[in-house]
Amino acid sequence: MVTASAPGKVYLFGEHAVVYGEPAVPCAIERRAQVTASRRDSGLRVHAGDLTIDGFTVEYEGGASERPDVDIEDSLVEAGIGYVNEAIEQARDATDAPDAGFDVTVDSEIPLGAGLGSSAAVTVAAIDAATRELGVELSPEEIADRAYRVEHSVQDGQASRADTFCSAMGGAVRVEGDDCRTIEAPDLPFVIGYDGGAGDTGALVAGVRNLREEYEFAADTVEAIGDVVRRGEAALWAARDAGATGAKLTGAGGGGCIVALDDTPETTSALNYTPGCEDTFRAELDTEGVRPEE
Ligand code: MEV
Repeated sequence: MVTASAPGKVYLFGEHAVVYGEPAVPCAIERRAQVTASRRDSGLRVHAGDLTIDGFTVEYEGGASERPDVDIEDSLVEAGIGYVNEAIEQARDATDAPDAGFDVTVDSEIPLGAGLGSSAAVTVAAIDAATRELGVELSPEEIADRAYRVEHSVQDGQASRADTFCSAMGGAVRVEGDDCRTIEAPDLPFVIGYDGGAGDTGALVAGVRNLREEYEFAADTVEAIGDVVRRGEAALWAARDAGATGAKLTGAGGGGCIVALDDTPETTSALNYTPGCEDTFRAELDTEGVRPEE
């Protein structure tokens, strides 16, 4: 039995536009998904709790899957199952063990579909746990690449490398197309406000793609986001000295989280008194990416 964990993320700049090759800067946060993998004779059995949905158990045998009994949109549950299923396929491929069976348990501190990178963290941790369980240790870069392939497939070809690279490497990263790098970041006092909602990343990305194909202003907006990212990168370094503050949505949208930068208690207090804000918490930058757990 092997356990691995990987962090969630917030975007400082660039979500959605990164799917079209613009740069983005996501940062890992100290909210992690933990995945335990142990060998079984065949197939895949997944138990997931704490994904802000009731725990569910799904059995896969020869590709058949059962719909877990949870109070959440079908598309989100299917996506959640899809990430684990495809992550295990990647682990089988990486270890040349196409028939390896697994029991997988997912425990995540990251709310599902809320813009905090829960699917990337689960996928990255699942690939690491399952490959280690088969005696193979992949580099974080290879885990990131394989996790990207999982997101790309589950989200119908609509994913960037940003979430998965950030989760595998930890810290702050910069992603532009296939060019993925870790970057130095100052201390970033994140405050996160969560409205309890969840969006389907694949569907939201597809929605943006349709808008971009249909309307020129949407294509221009995607390019403008790229410019904001380039300017924001410069501001990030200036913020080191200036104690700058700001707030924005994070992730695909459709419900979920805002992220603010504030080292005073004021944003937290304001969010606590904001109707519709279900939870408010601080999250430190997590400099550690995927890692094995005892
Ligand atoms: C979702 O966390 C981020 C998006 O840019 C999608 C992606 O990069 O794959 C919306």
